[in-house]
Amino acid sequence: MKELLRIENLRLYFDTEEGTVKALEDVNLSVKEGEIVGVVGETGSGKSITAMSILKLIPSPPARMLSGKIWFDGQEISSFDEEKMREIRGKKIAMIFQEPMTSLNPTFTVGEQLCDVLMTHEKIEKKQAIEKIIEVFKLVRMQDPVALLDKYPHQLSGGMRQRVMIAMALLCNPKLLIADEATTALDVTIQAQILGLIKRMNEQLKLSVLLITHNFGIVAQICDKVAVMYAGYVVEIADIKEVFARPRHPYTRGLLSAIPPIDRKVERLRIIEGSVPNLIEPPSGCRFHPRCERFVPGVCDVEAPKLAGDEHMVACFNPYNGGGSR
Ligand SMILES: Nc1ncnc2c1ncn2[C@@H]1O[C@H](COP(=O)(O)OP(=O)(O)OP(=O)(O)O)[C@@H](O)[C@H]1O
Ligand SMILES: [Mg+2]
Repeated sequence: MKELLRIENLRLYFDTEEGTVKALEDVNLSVKEGEIVGVVGETGSGKSITAMSILKLIPSPPARMLSGKIWFDGQEISSFDEEKMREIRGKKIAMIFQEPMTSLNPTFTVGEQLCDVLMTHEKIEKKQAIEKIIEVFKLVRMQDPVALLDKYPHQLSGGMRQRVMIAMALLCNPKLLIADEATTALDVTIQAQILGLIKRMNEQLKLSVLLITHNFGIVAQICDKVAVMYAGYVVEIADIKEVFARPRHPYTRGLLSAIPPIDRKVERLRIIEGSVPNLIEPPSGCRFHPRCERFVPGVCDVEAPKLAGDEHMVACFNPYNGGGSR
């Protein structure tokens, strides 16, 4: 499979009154054509900032990109100016967020907003735009697509709004969909439907997906590959089955053992002791070392480990060598 997206050594800081927030230190990640890649990690690990960096959606200042290159479909988009980025956003790479109301305008009908999106990107007449929107509504299995055009966002349920968002994202046939916690606010049944929909779009349209979530269970359901982030680093990346069967980074193991097993009752779930570090003065060396059960003094607190390996990559001086996670 051809590589569609590659992020190389992305380092991004924020200059704030309290000091410099070292939000992304060394992010490396790639998505192949037709692949669904999950990005997991605790709050503040840098998942959203990574996603927004791809589309250059972070205002600078306060953000400062110190290093890194982003490649998309053979082009180095990190060097693109605003005009060229507008060609990429929405058209080649679409993004959906947790809260659809931040992307939908409450004062316009769904039809008006989607027409606007389509007619900005493609030179087509309104009649053709409406036809295309109805086609996409059918694709995302919206009931009564014609009536939906005249509805205002507040007249829809949360799940329907999220479907409208996905329809909007698919309108211009993007190659990559970035979904940032897109199902987190929905109840489990609707969440499963939306994930099913994303999977179907991936299969039918060969849509590649970067799926950001703090929930390993979601990753297990639909992803081909998973990248685990911790405090501004990608610490492990591999095929989903491989990560579940042989997690190598102690942090990944910790995350996996916090998922309740379905086959037996447990007294108490294991949790990773401690909390995510302050990114203004992060720990020296590996940022996970103060919480790590395999910490090697004089090694892990001195230098930050690089992501290494072929298929199964891990950034750790003392990783596990395989075996189950529980
Ligand atoms: N505008 C900003 N100014 C300063 N720091 C910021 C800014 N935006 C993000 N950060 C910091 O960057 C780090 C990464 O944030 P990010 O939003 O990417 O985390 P996340 O992994 O998406 O978390 P969550 O699961 O809560 O969505 C955090 O420490 C956050 O406080
Ligand atoms: Mg986030």
